[in-house]
Amino acid sequence: MYTPAITGTGVFTPENIITNAELVAAFNAYADKQNAKNADKIAAGEIEPLQHSSEEFILKASGIENRYVMDKSGVLDPDVMHPLLRQRSDDEPGIMTEMAVDACKKALAQAGRKAEDVDLVICAASNHERAYPAIAIEIQQALGINGFGFDMNVACSSATFGIQAAADMIRSGSVRSALVVNPEICSGHLEWRDRDCHFIFGDVATATLIERIEDAQGPHFEVLSTRCATSFSNNIRNNNGFLRRSRPAGVVDRRDMQFMQNGRKVFKEVLPMVSKHISDHMEAEGVTSSDLKRLWLHQANKTMNDFIGKKVLGREPEADEQPNILQDYANTSSAGSIIAFSKYSDDLADGDIGLICSFGAGYSVGSVIVKRHGWTSR
Ligand code: COA
Repeated sequence: MYTPAITGTGVFTPENIITNAELVAAFNAYADKQNAKNADKIAAGEIEPLQHSSEEFILKASGIENRYVMDKSGVLDPDVMHPLLRQRSDDEPGIMTEMAVDACKKALAQAGRKAEDVDLVICAASNHERAYPAIAIEIQQALGINGFGFDMNVACSSATFGIQAAADMIRSGSVRSALVVNPEICSGHLEWRDRDCHFIFGDVATATLIERIEDAQGPHFEVLSTRCATSFSNNIRNNNGFLRRSRPAGVVDRRDMQFMQNGRKVFKEVLPMVSKHISDHMEAEGVTSSDLKRLWLHQANKTMNDFIGKKVLGREPEADEQPNILQDYANTSSAGSIIAFSKYSDDLADGDIGLICSFGAGYSVGSVIVKRHGWTSR
């Protein structure tokens, strides 16, 4: 058996930022237009008027201040309210591949590696832009990687489940080096016309390079242990899928073809599941809360992360013990914990232990316990 290590990470951040102020202005303009259009039905009591969104609510309920998106023109147009992406020919790289390649190149550069050193690409994301061929195989070709690639989807937990799959293959020797890449275009499945959730998501791509520890060319994180768990729930759901046109009213503009959630229930059910999962994983590995130098959590909601941090550490976490990036990126699905890891891990000292955890729809939760080797003030 070989020991896997994370030797590089990379983050692709889109150029366009949407602030809460811009988002709320666009939503309120949309709501006013809809209410004017439906004035008769509203007056007759047949439908409820749409209520305005508010910056204060968004910040207080989620901690989110901004989000990055691949296109903001459509999202902020009250007559469109979704991203507008260019139609690409089948002979040019797909948009997910383009984002993924940027993140992968950064991860390879950090690790001092070339594409030919890699022999597996896992594209682990909440949504894939087409059914087939696999996005991972297109990324593999774009980078010039030998070996193989495949797509997987465990919604917001895709990154940690992908890391477990790659780490297990490295342990067994079936691959020597793997890129786990998470291109998340959450703006495509978010319902921007629903004030309950329009502020939640943003777009990004993250990549993690995992190699045999003896192959590491610089500072790295030994993967001490991984653990994944799932438990079925309808509280975060999206009914879009390949059977859409086969079903009655399948192709009409239906609310359930975008992200839907029962946020309150998610809070109540996912928090205990995740806190227990992390605590059980740490106990099984003999890691105590005082051993843990950093928690890189899924980035959905600040209150959620504060709760989990406190439960796991048994006290209020210091800001640098549980870094949040959701204020800048919003919820980027599976990529969130990897953005936090990528931006806030270089300062850890030799031997320091940390834990990456992602969680969400499914329900699903995945955790990765890592140990820093080769401290440098890079
Ligand atoms: N602006 C102003 N008011 C809003 C609003 C908005 N954009 N969105 C909702 N409200 C209102 C609601 O209508 C509700 O009004 P009511 O009390 O009159 O019914 C009130 O604010 C509270 O709404 P609620 O949905 O209970 O807020 P919340 O505190 O639960 O926060 C979430 C909402 C979505 C931020 C929160 O539930 C959450 O983060 N849940 C978990 C999310 C998660 O991790 N999901 C995983 C996705 S992968």
